Amino acid sequence: MFYDPRTAPRPEPLRHNPLNALIGPRPIGWIATIDAHGTPNLAPFSYFNAFSADPPIVGFAPNARDPRGSPKDTLANLRQIPEFTASVVSMELAAAMNLTSAELPYGVSEFEHAGLHPQPSVSVRPPRVREARAALECEVFDIIALPAASGQRVSHLVLATVIGIHIDDTLIRDGRIDALALAQVGRLGYFDYVAVRDIFAMPRPD
Ligand SMILES: Cc1cc2nc3c(=O)[nH]c(=O)nc-3n(C[C@H](O)[C@H](O)[C@H](O)COP(=O)(O)O)c2cc1C
Repeated sequence: MFYDPRTAPRPEPLRHNPLNALIGPRPIGWIATIDAHGTPNLAPFSYFNAFSADPPIVGFAPNARDPRGSPKDTLANLRQIPEFTASVVSMELAAAMNLTSAELPYGVSEFEHAGLHPQPSVSVRPPRVREARAALECEVFDIIALPAASGQRVSHLVLATVIGIHIDDTLIRDGRIDALALAQVGRLGYFDYVAVRDIFAMPRPD
């Protein structure tokens, strides 16, 4: 089949949006921000990726919370303090990550809700997830409003420079990150996830 995803309703029998399933697995940026009073906020975003290694640039896309366009807490915080951490979600943290996607009232920390601990960062004000085995410290340089079809909610693309990287030293073997030990979780469509358990290497052609 073929269809234009901007039009509604979706053609039968597609009961759910296939885009999330077709562009996957997606890495999960576990984004911690703070508000102007310093209260931390934590939420997962799978429309998250690295866009450049040099310079080191990452981005993620928070949707509006509702059709009226009110921002999610993460974006509201970034407009006050344009810094965040992106912690890496390993398999043992998957359930806690999911808990932090709960819509808690503004100003209530998802760290406590999920039994996690905020660890102070080195170069940015928001903390990172102490339990995570790796995390990025990021400084926002642009927030772009994405075009929305009429009546649809506005999403934003947050772009940031990575200014610090934390790595659990036990993950480093022969100068490389041991991806099997990190066991990073990726997002597929619907409620499906994948964990890195099977790796193959393929050197580039000359
Ligand atoms: C694995 C996962 C990935 C998610 N990815 C996104 C995303 O890319 N964009 C988004 O707007 N919401 C995403 N969400 C939903 C947000 O985490 C959720 O709306 C959360 O309550 C936002 O928190 P905040 O209001 O504290 O910013 C995702 C949820 C999960 C569980």
